[in-house]
Amino acid sequence: MNIFSSALIVFLVATLSCAAFAARDLDGGIIRMPSEANRFFRGGRTEEENPEDDAEGTRWAVLLAGSSGYWNYRHQADVCHAYQLLRKGGLKEENIVVFMYDDIAFSEDNPRSGIIINSPHGDDVYKGVPKDYTGEHVTVDNFFAVILGNKTALTGGSGKVVDSGPNDHIFIYYTDHGGPGVLGMPTTPYLYANDLIEVLKKKHASGTYKSLVFYLEACESGSIFEGLLPEGLNIYATTASNADESSWGTYCPGEYPSPPPEYDTCLGDLYSVAWMEDSDIHNLRTETLHQQYELVKTRTINGNAVYGSHVMQYGDIGISKNHLVLYLGTNPANDNYTFVDENSLRPPMKAVNQRDADLVHFWHKYRYAPEGSPRKVEAQKQVLEAMAHRMHLDNSVKLIGKLLFGIEKGPEVLNTVRPTGQPLVDDWDCLKMMVRTFETHCGSLSQYGMKHMRSFANICNAGIQKEQVAEASAQACVSVPPTPWSSLHKGFSA
Ligand SMILES: *[C@@H]1O[C@H](CO)[C@@H](O)[C@H](O)[C@H]1NC(C)=O
Ligand SMILES: *[C@@H]1O[C@H](CO)[C@@H](O)[C@H](O)[C@H]1NC(C)=O
Repeated sequence: MNIFSSALIVFLVATLSCAAFAARDLDGGIIRMPSEANRFFRGGRTEEENPEDDAEGTRWAVLLAGSSGYWNYRHQADVCHAYQLLRKGGLKEENIVVFMYDDIAFSEDNPRSGIIINSPHGDDVYKGVPKDYTGEHVTVDNFFAVILGNKTALTGGSGKVVDSGPNDHIFIYYTDHGGPGVLGMPTTPYLYANDLIEVLKKKHASGTYKSLVFYLEACESGSIFEGLLPEGLNIYATTASNADESSWGTYCPGEYPSPPPEYDTCLGDLYSVAWMEDSDIHNLRTETLHQQYELVKTRTINGNAVYGSHVMQYGDIGISKNHLVLYLGTNPANDNYTFVDENSLRPPMKAVNQRDADLVHFWHKYRYAPEGSPRKVEAQKQVLEAMAHRMHLDNSVKLIGKLLFGIEKGPEVLNTVRPTGQPLVDDWDCLKMMVRTFETHCGSLSQYGMKHMRSFANICNAGIQKEQVAEASAQACVSVPPTPWSSLHKGFSA
């Protein structure tokens, strides 16, 4: 073993155990649950007056994988799986809008060319998935235009939008990396929580749905809705994690259950496979959203939250009395398979922190590449660049905190988590401006850097001015490592 690989092992062990350690810290009492029980019984409008759940209205779905790159295989695999599930449930292709970068199936890294799987023994989920918005057309603007049904606001793509009416039901599923208040996109800019909430309010004001269900997988995904999604919009959302923790990849190499040996990347995400594998086998006329929420929550906490996260629910919780068929349809082949809670039979799975899944991929790629091959050299370069980028970001944000608030108070201010029910930040324009200011001096935050959004939010919440942040950033970032991650074209604000 050479020096590089021993250093790398030390680094990986440190990173991975950091992630697990953070989760344990959270377990120690910082987690706060909203008053869910209370809201469940008050709730929003339900379909009780309409016992035939699937009697009227059209089911629409928007599916979005927010990443690109083979090391992020799992997000596009999740979305393809969701598409197959909805089609088997009876939704029409014309009512399902798919956003995916589409660089996985025919990637040279893919051991089964033209095929994508979402579980170790899973079938191909890629076949037949429509290419509505791919590559550079997977954008925040197109996502919003699709939800709002505004064709004139589209750039590129198939032109398919959610052209819904007042009796229709809409299901939105988004899976990717995220951070406090932000979700990733394979393009820039990234998606900010307040902009998404504005779009949902606008959709509600247009009177073009009866109810809307949003399933969201990302790190800190609770922060997208916490204190932001009001009741009364007839929207029910569940998230893979609370506002303050990672979400988890699953079916990862070297873990249990493992992907087939030829795969060096994670095949799915813990919350995502939980709701989909449940929906795959049951008669969804007899299972409610609430039953699925409970089941997914138990599976995603994964025993003890060291390798898992807290699934949350937001908005009009009363909607969760509805049966899943209203949003996902139901596969006639499952008609005799009613809901049973199978969690008691399932052993906890090993999972990988979303933020470390790329390192796991590069590491496995490095380990299994033939000695001296271009592939080995490339994998080594990828790990070193990812590490340099991470250390640069972590150190510069920490230093900026100290420059602004002092050596002792800096870390405390940056890491403060606001109480449940409060949004991450009050002034979202300030947050966006602080991110832009940081990126101007320090290079792109990119995918990994989303974890630092809370620090910038807290800088805004403390009333710090842009000029002070510009000065501190200039001092902290005398140089920017020349990696592709740091380049500003991967920036939030490009
Ligand atoms: C649709 O988008 C266009 C272009 O962004 C905008 O001018 C128009 O007001 C939008 N229409 C509606 C109904 O929101
Ligand atoms: C469900 O059970 C009924 C009654 O036994 C049977 O007629 C029907 O074929 C079954 N449906 C499926 C999809 O297995």
